[in-house]
Amino acid sequence: MMIKSLQNSLATKDVHALFHPSTNLYTHTEQETLVLDRGEGIYVYDIDGNRYIEGLSGLWCNALGFGNEELIEAASVQMRKLSYGTLFASKSHEPAILLAEKLIELSPFDEGKVFFGSSGSDANDTQIKIFTYLNNATGKKNKKNFLARKKAYHGITVASASMTGLPTQHQLFDLPLKGFYHTECPHYFKESYIGETEDSYTDRLISSVEEKINMVGPDSFAALIAEPLMGAGGVILPPEHYFPKLHEVLDEYDISLIDDEVICGFGRTGNYWGYETFGMKPASITIAKALSSGYVPISAVIIPNHIYEPIARASNQQGIFGHGYTYSGHPVACAVALKTIEIYEKTKLIDHVETVSKTFQRRLHDMRSNHIIGETRGVGLIGAIEIYENRELKQLFDPKFGAGIKVMKLCQRHGLLVRAIQDTIAICPPLIISNEEVNKLFDILEYSLEVFVKKYFL
Ligand SMILES: Cc1ncc(COP(=O)(O)O)c(C=O)c1O
Repeated sequence: MMIKSLQNSLATKDVHALFHPSTNLYTHTEQETLVLDRGEGIYVYDIDGNRYIEGLSGLWCNALGFGNEELIEAASVQMRKLSYGTLFASKSHEPAILLAEKLIELSPFDEGKVFFGSSGSDANDTQIKIFTYLNNATGKKNKKNFLARKKAYHGITVASASMTGLPTQHQLFDLPLKGFYHTECPHYFKESYIGETEDSYTDRLISSVEEKINMVGPDSFAALIAEPLMGAGGVILPPEHYFPKLHEVLDEYDISLIDDEVICGFGRTGNYWGYETFGMKPASITIAKALSSGYVPISAVIIPNHIYEPIARASNQQGIFGHGYTYSGHPVACAVALKTIEIYEKTKLIDHVETVSKTFQRRLHDMRSNHIIGETRGVGLIGAIEIYENRELKQLFDPKFGAGIKVMKLCQRHGLLVRAIQDTIAICPPLIISNEEVNKLFDILEYSLEVFVKKYFL
């Protein structure tokens, strides 16, 4: 049981001064704000000293856990040496050069280029600009539309939010912008018809993509953006043949696949890249989060040279490639990212994920023995359980009841931080988690669900 204490002055000040992202700003004033103080390994501590397993790696990012001395040292050495350096106008520095070189080596492209940013959102904006610039430069001036999926999450800047497929990110913001379209979310359990096999569901889904392309204009799409598995939309895994079949349509209409690896990259799904797990063929890749294990903000777009070269030629006609951020390739961020990748390699973190994910996935799927769990889904060290009022009828709870939030709060009370996405509880712990800690995480989750059932249904 958590120590309930000092409803501290920081929480009060928070309500006075902070404008919280992705928060119900109205009820926030009545919430017990969780003010975190420090972290160590897979644990974080609040200011009252209560300890929690960070079951979502912060926001799906903290792969190496908290307090990693090597990362702290890499940042401090680089801050002392060169605390800032731009990449504008042909300036450069060693950390950005070495990191770009390393990322190309890790990518599926024989030769390529890396464009740095500070967030997944700005990197996905860069993707839009790259493909728009490219198609202008190569005479494909009609190919300016972008396709994404409902429930996708690609960020929150106006262009990346336009690709995100969640209503709360669109309504009242007058989004999506013109030229952004959404096709169906590939969620077999929820969206299939009674008696429909996974393969016939996939065929129906792929036909709907083709219909959308033809309806808007068969020659009008530059790219489709997709996460290997949908993270923030609810940890939704595509059916087995979804991406291979999707590629047949994309190839037919000359549409590039932008692979958003912001959550899946760097081992989360059990392979180095999510595209390997789900049979995707990326034309271009977005990365962030685990690139620095969440220690410093950094993101990147990796493209092959055949995309880069026409852009480079067009930039000569324009005078410059007129896109870039003050913090593109920030030396401290690049130094930390380089060290992060070095640690992934020397600790053989992907092998570790393969081992512990067996326990993780077994415990996750065992949760279906609780009658309120309608679906468990996951791969590697990411997973979700979805709470249903009646799973046989696939009937969800009334959203006003807030089943997911209630379970999330019970988990928090018992020392586990998870995310409630409506009534889906998402779990994405640091990749360094041990077998024993995986068991501890699921013990708390199971116990919290038992408390939830006893409290509301017995
Ligand atoms: C798949 C994916 N793409 C992009 C983003 C946006 O990244 P950021 O929040 O760093 O802008 C996120 C954030 O969760 C994400 O999950």
